[in-house]
Amino acid sequence: MNIIYDEKNETFLLHTEKTTYGIAVVDGRYLEHMYYGASLDNADIRYLLREDENPGVPSANKRETGAFLDCAPMEFPETGMGDYRESAFCIRSMSGYRASELTYEGYAVEDGKPELEGLPATWGEKENCRTLKLFLRDRLLGARVTLLYSVFESSDAVTRSVIVENKGEEPFYIEKILSACLDMDDRGFEVLGLFGSWARERHVQRMPLGYGRQNIASFKGNSSHQEHPFMALVTPGTTQDSGEVYAMNFVYSGNFIAQAEKNQFDSVRMMMGIHPEGFTWKLEPGQCFTAPEVVMTYSSEGLGKMTRTFHDLYRNHLIRSPYLHEKRPILINNWEATYFDFDEKKLLEIAEEASELGIEMLVMDDGWFGKRSMDDSSLGDWYVNEEKLKGGLNALVENVKQTGMKFGIWVEPEMISPESELYRKHPDWAIQIPGRDITQSRAQYVLDLSREEVADEVYEMIAAVLRSADISYVKWDMNRQIATMGSSSLPDDRQGELAHRYILGVYRMQERLITDFPELLLENCASGGGRFDPGMLYYSPQIWCSDDTDAVERLAIQEGTAMLYPVSAIGAHVSVCPNHSVGRTTPFETRGDVALLGTFGYELDITKLSPEEKDLVKVQVEKYHKYNDLIREGDYYRLASAAENRYYDSWMIVEKDKSRALLFYVQVMARANAKSRFIRLAGLDPERRYEAEGKEYTGNTLMQAGIRIPAEFGDFKSRLIEIRGR
Ligand code: GLA
Repeated sequence: MNIIYDEKNETFLLHTEKTTYGIAVVDGRYLEHMYYGASLDNADIRYLLREDENPGVPSANKRETGAFLDCAPMEFPETGMGDYRESAFCIRSMSGYRASELTYEGYAVEDGKPELEGLPATWGEKENCRTLKLFLRDRLLGARVTLLYSVFESSDAVTRSVIVENKGEEPFYIEKILSACLDMDDRGFEVLGLFGSWARERHVQRMPLGYGRQNIASFKGNSSHQEHPFMALVTPGTTQDSGEVYAMNFVYSGNFIAQAEKNQFDSVRMMMGIHPEGFTWKLEPGQCFTAPEVVMTYSSEGLGKMTRTFHDLYRNHLIRSPYLHEKRPILINNWEATYFDFDEKKLLEIAEEASELGIEMLVMDDGWFGKRSMDDSSLGDWYVNEEKLKGGLNALVENVKQTGMKFGIWVEPEMISPESELYRKHPDWAIQIPGRDITQSRAQYVLDLSREEVADEVYEMIAAVLRSADISYVKWDMNRQIATMGSSSLPDDRQGELAHRYILGVYRMQERLITDFPELLLENCASGGGRFDPGMLYYSPQIWCSDDTDAVERLAIQEGTAMLYPVSAIGAHVSVCPNHSVGRTTPFETRGDVALLGTFGYELDITKLSPEEKDLVKVQVEKYHKYNDLIREGDYYRLASAAENRYYDSWMIVEKDKSRALLFYVQVMARANAKSRFIRLAGLDPERRYEAEGKEYTGNTLMQAGIRIPAEFGDFKSRLIEIRGR
């Protein structure tokens, strides 16, 4: 029993293996948050609500309901009645009033986990998950609100979402609906987030939480390169294996906000949901709105435990692809090899050479369709350019298959070039505000995917291409963020629904794609890692992590990405040097080792490699086959971060049964007159004996004293060490 209702005390306790989450009903109508943290027994913890302290509860102190509302720890705070902290919920009536008074009405407990209509979400079976539903109602407007809490016992995760139903006679507008809120006393928290830019995604940042509000957000139409739908509050000094961590991650790919607010009473409100900027949703009587899911986890054992909770939850309960537990084909993508300048001969040449070296799939990137020879035309014209690919797509695919390789293709279904047949035919299909110029980005516009007929027509064009040849893989790209938000098909008072409807449209299209083509391996991408989030992982088992393929830059990008997402989901390739993004030259071996922490592949003109480099490709291919099962399925431990220490980076992957592990070490900057360094390993069995590089150790020695890594001459040197249990 992991959801306990204490009838006498009117409290709920939600237990996972190592955590407890507590909720109470106050005055028979308010839902307050009692506790989230390390496991508690089923004792009465109602005293944590301070009900006997000033201002007390409204039934006992009617003159101060305002003070109560503004300081009580609320489960789902609302706008308009006197809680002046950030609210999670705001509705506007048809008469224009912004307020609600949600009153608790009852609860239900279910085995497993209900689906969230039209949305990606984690799933759970009755053996591993139970769901608590709390029912609330605003009597005046007839709004019925259901708060959902699904408890994954063995994953130490609790997911939250909210369903609003209009049971009244009149429509109302939802102006804000966040999916999760967590009120607690401050403990000197620091805010941890992932920040970046195009080609510099998800760098870890930590900052103290001061009074006021600190948020991490995107209203760019996608989850973005710049900020990430994740926030953790950590106690000071938290490391990989010590300290307390409260984390939230949003299973959503559009506009989001994550916020921490410290108030006058030193309490902290942490929340996450759809960004209210530009958002309104009109709910007619009888209609429902479902807010996307937030995954929460608490760790008292530092960041590493949080990471492994997310990895396991996403591998076991989010990513649905049949390829999740499969070794993916080693691919070679022609983007950095040719950009737009290729034809069928060039692609075949790459395939022939790559196949000789053990690479298994050719991916034809941007430039194969319409009249596209630069990035300024043809998005939307999804038919093969036979001037470029003479003989057509099917002939090319068959020829590539003759070399023993599979074939994959790039598409960008969400976009439309002003310079395209599709735009000439349907100028109203682009997202736009009547009378204003559409803001251009990469010379392209965004398709209005809130309209089913738009999504359907584009989908059909792309599906026809996929049916026309034996295509094993699709890279689904999204190369700009959204502005001039407007849809010609939405009425005036529904324009605020567009951003969310757009994302629902994307989800619908991807669902259709993987349903119609169940064998397809789908990789998402958004100018590199502009939409690397749990929402997209529900549809594709891997996402291109960043357009920056430089091995050194990738260390920080992959460190931040792997802090939340399984290594098996991180698109990583070896590319040429000097690197196209930063001009840096790194050893070929290092590029290979860094790309092993991901899906692994190549992004270069293999016909131009030297014989020595080609030999190294063979070695890397061998390493991939040898280690990918372990890397894909094992437990990930971060040991050192060059982003913090400037000199070296290290991580390891440990087999679940601790029988084998792989240590990665990159000496980023060499130092003069340096000694060797002891790297303390993690996750091993302390009692067990292990062998590494011909020497024997106990697990305990490797974890407490460390393994010795010699200082090397030269920058960017990597080392990969296998640790085998005896
Ligand atoms: C984006 C992707 C790249 C490549 C180009 C093609 O930037 O991230 O990998 O596919 O688009 O235009």
